[in-house]
Amino acid sequence: MSVSSYLDERLNFNQEAHLSRFDRYNPSQEKLFFREEATEVFLFFSSFGVLTMRYVAVCGSPLLKFNNHQNVVRSLEIEGINFTCGLLHSEDMQFDSESPENHEKVLVKIRAFSSNYRDKSIILRAATNLPDQNFYAFGSDFVAEVLTVGSKVDGLQPGDRVINNNQYPDSGVAGLLPGVPTNHSSKELQVFHQAKLLKIPDSISDEMAAGFSIGAQTAYSMLRKLDVRPGENILVTAAKSNTSLFVINALKHRGVNVYATSTSRKFEDKLLAMGVKQLIQVDPNQEDWSHIPELMQIYRETGGIHCIVDPFFDLHIGKLLPILRRGEGGRYVTCGLYDQYSTYTGHDFKYHGMALKDVMLFAMMNNVQLIGNCVGKTADLQQAVNDCDRGKFTVAVDSIFSGNQIEEFVDRTYKSRDRFGKVIFKY
Ligand SMILES: NC(=O)c1ccc[n+]([C@@H]2O[C@H](COP(=O)([O-])OP(=O)(O)OC[C@H]3O[C@@H](n4cnc5c(N)ncnc54)[C@H](OP(=O)(O)O)[C@@H]3O)[C@@H](O)[C@H]2O)c1
Repeated sequence: MSVSSYLDERLNFNQEAHLSRFDRYNPSQEKLFFREEATEVFLFFSSFGVLTMRYVAVCGSPLLKFNNHQNVVRSLEIEGINFTCGLLHSEDMQFDSESPENHEKVLVKIRAFSSNYRDKSIILRAATNLPDQNFYAFGSDFVAEVLTVGSKVDGLQPGDRVINNNQYPDSGVAGLLPGVPTNHSSKELQVFHQAKLLKIPDSISDEMAAGFSIGAQTAYSMLRKLDVRPGENILVTAAKSNTSLFVINALKHRGVNVYATSTSRKFEDKLLAMGVKQLIQVDPNQEDWSHIPELMQIYRETGGIHCIVDPFFDLHIGKLLPILRRGEGGRYVTCGLYDQYSTYTGHDFKYHGMALKDVMLFAMMNNVQLIGNCVGKTADLQQAVNDCDRGKFTVAVDSIFSGNQIEEFVDRTYKSRDRFGKVIFKY
């Protein structure tokens, strides 16, 4: 099984049957739009101006002709793959709060959303597989306003602001899928089970909230599993990745020494201001990092790092594991890998570093714990929200786009190596 198909099955978990094929994403009223006669239907509504629900979506290239006063459709490129992407409008969706199947459900209106690393492979898959008349709304984090609630919904009411609750591996509700509530967070109106939403206080702005959930829930879960204690030495890899920025922000008030690696020294000042004690520049293409003087010095000074937090295990584990404390107490946690989309780009990924056998041998001989982590629990997200409310945790926001800035939003999210934090699209 390839990494991509493994991820398809394991990581793209969501409320809409895992979305391993695009045609699974077709709520009934949108099917009109997708099929042969769809073009006319779209034009009809468009000309009478009744299409108000928005999406940011990968589109089949024929949809370029719908670039008009209302829709924004552009030709874009990511990783050498050309595709069409747009801000589209369709009919509002209907929600019957009286219907028994909706008793525990909530209709929300997305105020702002953001897209994550995981969505890049979904976007590229859409870009390379999407039927011509189809579109695929993307995004996985959001902040939304509650519009209507079912009769058995508890603790949420119209006007509340909510973010996605990605609790995993158990949603907490029988029959309800765990993980991200949607892979289409740009779809402006959506219905979720109440368990997939978490209310946030006024102190958290829309801009922060729209990029909060997956990163914060994952970071807090990883730190919970590591059981980080004051005084410990923590190394965070890929410091400028969103996940690591969440981790670094979450470590700020825990009384630990934070070291970080990054492919560049850009933003070193910002990282130091966030509490990083030392930033070590690394070259991902270098086979062996054991002779990097700064790493050797840190090992000597600390007697070995207590914990490594690594969002890209295929970039780092085989080179950084030896910096961990040996004997007892060394812990390594990862939540992801770099090579998620080479299937679509055709650019082969080359792993550098210790072979799996040597990684496991090192872990076994040195009593090192290797920990896997996928998102987190509701309590992790709630703690992050509470800490943010109390000013003890924050979200690094890089930039905010809106209106017709589709190309700017996508480019900044996926093509800018000088990005520092979440890129938000605000409706
Ligand atoms: N399982 C889960 O629940 C979960 C949740 C959240 C995230 N994740 C995973 O965590 C990982 C990070 O996601 P993210 O959204 O935080 O990513 P991201 O923000 O897109 O990461 C970008 C960073 O990756 C590093 N990078 C980019 N290109 C690179 C290259 N060619 N070689 C080496 N480093 C490169 C750079 O950091 P530096 O320059 O600082 O090195 C860059 O700033 C992904 O694998 C994602 O799937 C998993």
